[in-house]
Amino acid sequence: MDSLSVVILAAGKGTRMYSAKPKVLHSIGGKPMLAHVIETAKQLSPDRLVVVYGFGGEQVRQTIGDDGVLWAEQAEQLGTGHALKMAMPLLPDAGRTLVLYGDVPLTRLETLQDLLAAAGDGMAVLTDVLDDATGYGRMVRGTDGKLKAIVEHKDCSPEQLAIREINTGMMVLPNGRLADWLNALRNGNSQGEYYLTDVLALAVAEGVAVESALVAHSWEAAGVNNKLQLAELERILQQNQARALLTAGVTLADPARIDIRGELVHGNDVSIDVNCVFEGKVSLGDGVEIGANCILKNVSVAAGTRIAAFSHLEDAVVGEACRIGPYARLRPGAALAGHVHVGNFVEIKKSTVGEGSKVNHLTYIGDASIGSKVNVGAGSVTCNYDGVNKFKTVIGDNVFVGSGTLMVAPVTLEEGATIGAGSVLTRTAPAGELTVARARQTTIPGWKRPAKKS
Ligand code: UD1
Ligand code: CA
Repeated sequence: MDSLSVVILAAGKGTRMYSAKPKVLHSIGGKPMLAHVIETAKQLSPDRLVVVYGFGGEQVRQTIGDDGVLWAEQAEQLGTGHALKMAMPLLPDAGRTLVLYGDVPLTRLETLQDLLAAAGDGMAVLTDVLDDATGYGRMVRGTDGKLKAIVEHKDCSPEQLAIREINTGMMVLPNGRLADWLNALRNGNSQGEYYLTDVLALAVAEGVAVESALVAHSWEAAGVNNKLQLAELERILQQNQARALLTAGVTLADPARIDIRGELVHGNDVSIDVNCVFEGKVSLGDGVEIGANCILKNVSVAAGTRIAAFSHLEDAVVGEACRIGPYARLRPGAALAGHVHVGNFVEIKKSTVGEGSKVNHLTYIGDASIGSKVNVGAGSVTCNYDGVNKFKTVIGDNVFVGSGTLMVAPVTLEEGATIGAGSVLTRTAPAGELTVARARQTTIPGWKRPAKKS
């Protein structure tokens, strides 16, 4: 087959989003709608991919980037036919062109492949059959069932308004005829626009075969014009993702209560309780359990680890068979080895924690390296910041840090050191010794409480 070009129409303003952000940059599943369309289009391995942009052009180009994308500007939005014409200088004379919309994000690859197959080297339109076709262009067929024209809702006769087969907007066109057809378009219609849909009648008049393919699910052709439709498509994407996880063996407490805004990779026997959010790239090893209300962003969790409810992890690496939370917070640069315990109200930032170490209660660990089999007592803090610079705390293997210890960095706790509770460490705690750095307890004999004066 001849070369394939894809043109994505994305110049529309999106007035009903009431937003400074161009419509096609609003996100579904954590990714701009236009990026979804581009990703699907790229899976067709087209020879070129052109995005027609207009409103908010600089912002659109910057967000999407130039990787494998050519840009054509439509300065004035004069209609879908005019929009495609703006891409013509970037298209070859031969081959065929698939037209997609930047605000229709959930079309499946298989559907586009069906459409291309239906077109052959002629023309094909992706259609849907709706109970309520209000607003859509109607597919007008002759008594022989063959397509004759697409008529926009506002231009329909009463009989045409009754047609339930609609134009999704996605179509395949032969490049060889495209320039002539687009130049032949006139804007003498109810909206004063150059309608791309008018090329269908031109093709029929020239005896070019025009076929159609029916979309499998209506959401594949659903566009976004406002925040309500954006939210509806978000739910559909999330449902689809949840279904894929269940089918692949992940246990979900409720498939309606999980949000994946990125990519979730998983092993076997993974289970996820309700209301968890996964962002960016998350990988969960075999047997990982995630409690309710957890948020994981760019995190990798090795096999057998349990993350209890209300934990928040970002840019962190967690080893195997760890116990995290409830209410734990791992911030960027937290790297836990295997069998580590991190308990409630513990915050760990830019620190490594060695095999089998425990930091169980109400503690802040920042810019630290902690060895293996260390125990950090409740309410301990690495004082890593002097108001200007950050400093490191180094804790060797087998160290026992008593509760309520303040480690004023830079400071080292050598292997096997024991620190008395309530210590404020400002110097090295030597290996294997007990170090206590607090005022001694004194008792004042015979001291009397002040009495209330009458
Ligand atoms: C279009 C179709 C209609 C179809 C419907 C499906 C035409 C004339 N009508 O109508 O048959 O049922 O889509 O949703 O094609 N765009 C530009 N530049 C423009 C105009 C539009 O880039 O000058 C882009 C928009 O950003 C959008 C797409 O083209 O992504 C469709 O435009 P829209 O105004 O939504 O078309 P409809 O009137 O809904
Ligand atoms: Ca539309």
